[in-house]
Amino acid sequence: MSMSALIDPFGRKIDYLRISVTDRCDFRCTYCMDEDVTFMPRDHILSLEEIVYVAKTFIAMGTKRIRITGGEPLVRKNILWAIEQIANTNGLEELTITTNGSQLYKMAHTLLDAGVSRINISLDTLKADRFYALTRRDKFQQVIDGIDAASKLAFKRLKINSVMLKNHNDDELFDLAQFALDRKMDISFIEEMPLGVITDHNRAATYLSSDEVIKTLGRHYELTPSSATTSGPTRYYQVAGYDHKIGVISPHSHNFCDTCNRVRLTAEGRLLLCLGNEHSKDLKSVIRNTSTDSISLESAIIEALALKPQKHHFNLAEAPQILRFMSATGG
Ligand code: 5AD
Ligand code: SF4
Repeated sequence: MSMSALIDPFGRKIDYLRISVTDRCDFRCTYCMDEDVTFMPRDHILSLEEIVYVAKTFIAMGTKRIRITGGEPLVRKNILWAIEQIANTNGLEELTITTNGSQLYKMAHTLLDAGVSRINISLDTLKADRFYALTRRDKFQQVIDGIDAASKLAFKRLKINSVMLKNHNDDELFDLAQFALDRKMDISFIEEMPLGVITDHNRAATYLSSDEVIKTLGRHYELTPSSATTSGPTRYYQVAGYDHKIGVISPHSHNFCDTCNRVRLTAEGRLLLCLGNEHSKDLKSVIRNTSTDSISLESAIIEALALKPQKHHFNLAEAPQILRFMSATGG
């Protein structure tokens, strides 16, 4: 019963799947998780074989692009095997990953060989002491070495993702942008989202809107809104004098749900229909409890799609409504 396209109740074509392969991470970014976070027991997590099976089923149903995320996807043992399996499935146009960069110094090359075409690397500061304060790990130089290793290779595109927090790292907007542009990379500045309860800071107090980001950067660069899109929520600006772009992801200030094209598979095998809502379908039980025929999985995916909500409603003034962390969700 393979389908050529998945369409949700609001007429949106869903051809993009993000897969969180682990909720574990070697960093503890203050906006993402607390130091003493509890990870899921390992037997709750999909095996790599199960992940590949779900990915191949989605591809058979019309999925064109898959992003591997986490937690930190590259700390999962044997992840390269799964990446290679998925990347080489007929029908998939693009396999990408999001990483904190900690393993790239040794893995960038093998990722390219395995079939990864684009990498998004999270980096919120260029100051080693601040990096330590933000991630609670002393890995700044390792990440920079990884970014440099990746930027020497033939990836189709590399992008830096920076979560901006007022009075924490907003004095580095220009330095971060220039760091990316100098390395022929794009950069996206992200508004922090209320995912999971954190104790480090009050998210309403550190909120920095994308409009403020663009206004500040506009003092240094000539920015022109660009029509370019990678079919994601990023709004891009062309930077005069450079080939690469500055983007903003504005879950609070500019709702982007109308063009949503994606669903997410969590590390424990829940298919999440929206980052900002709890609507989900447990695919793990479908895989583990039935005689694993692809028809039951395809039917479960089609049923799940009917649950996709129209939009997210984030409100920083309230306690987080979404109790799962980005690390469990697949940023
Ligand atoms: N809000 C916004 N971005 C977040 N990330 C992790 N947690 C949050 C949050 N609460 C970011 C990471 C990474 C991407 C996958 O998601 O920094 O860039
Ligand atoms: Fe790890 Fe990414 Fe969360 Fe930082 S934001 S703790 S790198 S999952």
